[in-house]
Amino acid sequence: MERFVRGLPKTELHIHIEGTLEPEMMFEMGERNGVELPFGSVDEVRAAYEFDDLQSFLDIYYQAAAVLQTEDDFARLMAAYLEKAESDGVRHAEIFFDPQTHTERGIDIGTVIRGLVQGRQEVAEVSSTLILCFLRHLPPRSAVEVFEQARPYLDHIQGVGLDSGELGNPPELFAEAYRLAVEAGLRPVAHAGEEAPAEYVWSALDVLGVERIDHGVRAGDDPALVDRLVREQIPLTMCPLSNQKLQVFPDLADHSLKELMDAGVLVTVNSDDPSYFGGYIGDNYLGIAAALDLTRQDLIQLARNSVTASFLPEDRKAALQREITDYVGSVS
Ligand code: ADE
Ligand code: ZN
Repeated sequence: MERFVRGLPKTELHIHIEGTLEPEMMFEMGERNGVELPFGSVDEVRAAYEFDDLQSFLDIYYQAAAVLQTEDDFARLMAAYLEKAESDGVRHAEIFFDPQTHTERGIDIGTVIRGLVQGRQEVAEVSSTLILCFLRHLPPRSAVEVFEQARPYLDHIQGVGLDSGELGNPPELFAEAYRLAVEAGLRPVAHAGEEAPAEYVWSALDVLGVERIDHGVRAGDDPALVDRLVREQIPLTMCPLSNQKLQVFPDLADHSLKELMDAGVLVTVNSDDPSYFGGYIGDNYLGIAAALDLTRQDLIQLARNSVTASFLPEDRKAALQREITDYVGSVS
């Protein structure tokens, strides 16, 4: 099973580049850049990764991101992620980055984007694009400002997203920033229904006009929403190990993925912040397969969904679907 999953061609659509910062790299960059960390060792960092909820994770996550200072730091981070993704069968990744996490502490947005683009170019075996995310715990005006700072770099950015603390920060607050981004040609997605209720998914769809919902695990609470997701084939980018670590589903056996998939929702499996949640995308496929008794056919469907749900052009999607067919034929 493990070999089958890691070899299965797939895309990754929900991955925060800042969430791929491994403790070893965190220490190395912290030392080099003279940034003090609130941990004494790599082991101490890993021991701190016990989270009560989304916010308790975000508190550590934003602190750790302070070690990223130079263009080269962002390039190393991106290249390291893409190499790991390649070994998990990822052929294409659509990668979130949070510019405000860096601009708020005085790093120029150009340093961030040029570094990430450099890292992408170093690992050409996996195709990739960037999705600029607004931090929803900051004022909507800050989202508009950071989008304006990103304008000179839009050739490198395919999508716009919304992340950070969800409860109390509903999608509709960011309507203006999304309007500008969509007008500029970016494809809209948003985190919704991770910790907050299904209403946040409705407003992400109706007010922001998103094409995909990130997480959306709470959608199952609302049958009318499930009907809409099925009818319009709106993808959910789910991240099982993240949901377990952040106590959304402390027991993975309770996860809504299979139920939604069986209802006809276009569900995908992704890793979110793999260095914090105990595994990259292959581990997420294996973890949810074990918890929900997924069949090999289910896993193939999830990989096919990941291609369908991507922002790739139709000819590349068709080529990847053929690659999945050939792979399944070659191992059975
Ligand atoms: N930023 C990084 N990971 C996140 C998550 N799971 N939810 C919201 N914002 C995030
Ligand atoms: Zn996320």
